Amino acid sequence: MRRMRRLELDGVKIEVFDSVPELIARAAGRLFDLLRTDPEAVIGLATGNTFIPFYKFVADNYRKAGVSFSETVTFNLDEYLGIRSESGGSYHTYMDRNLFSKVDIRRENVHMPDSNPQDPEAEAEKYERLISRSGGIDIQFLGLGRNGHIGFNEPGTSFDSVSHVTALSEATISANAPVFGEGGDMPRSAITMGIKTILNSRRLLLLAYGDEKSSAIHETFSAGRIAESVPSTALKLHRNATMLLDTRAAKAVI
Ligand code: GLP
Repeated sequence: MRRMRRLELDGVKIEVFDSVPELIARAAGRLFDLLRTDPEAVIGLATGNTFIPFYKFVADNYRKAGVSFSETVTFNLDEYLGIRSESGGSYHTYMDRNLFSKVDIRRENVHMPDSNPQDPEAEAEKYERLISRSGGIDIQFLGLGRNGHIGFNEPGTSFDSVSHVTALSEATISANAPVFGEGGDMPRSAITMGIKTILNSRRLLLLAYGDEKSSAIHETFSAGRIAESVPSTALKLHRNATMLLDTRAAKAVI
């Protein structure tokens, strides 16, 4: 019989699922529960392949779940720099395609860093101010880079960082380049919420599944350490952080 296993490691709650659809349904359930109690919630959104089935599930089921996005405010974790926001590989395009065009969210309530600002540093500062002025993020969804990055906070990023401009690591560039197509112009930099911005959220929910995430999960929990060289270890500093993993990603910890 299928079941979900719960454990807790270094203060991080972990739920392990036998299948990805179960994991996705659980993540969406967490979002629907929040929107049911607080339709005006501020939601921190993530991108990447991990979240494609999540947004599909949310779009297909939110009405059945009795919730609406009409009063909901969102902030995305990050956006590439130096591309047009309509570019096929931008996170603006990703979010429009996977979620915003499919739910009743109001465009004025959606926030993402500009992908082509005149002054990227000023854009990052403005983004951080907007998040603070919204009253803070109620639940921040997170994916996990193969090198342990969260948002685009690459290994070595200060845990005191707020929203900032960052250079992408070679590992991230090669992992994400396929989205830009062959010979496409994979950006080399991005604006991302900082680790401190993420930790300021009231709840954190990280999703990771598949064999390719198992070494990042292993690194996160090896030797119980908290280290800037593994950004995902920052979750251990948060009071309400949960990871939803499948058995493949979790194999080093179960
Ligand atoms: C990108 C994003 C991250 C995401 C990570 C994992 O680099 N900036 O927010 O978590 O990739 O992506 P995927 O879900 O495609 O493995």
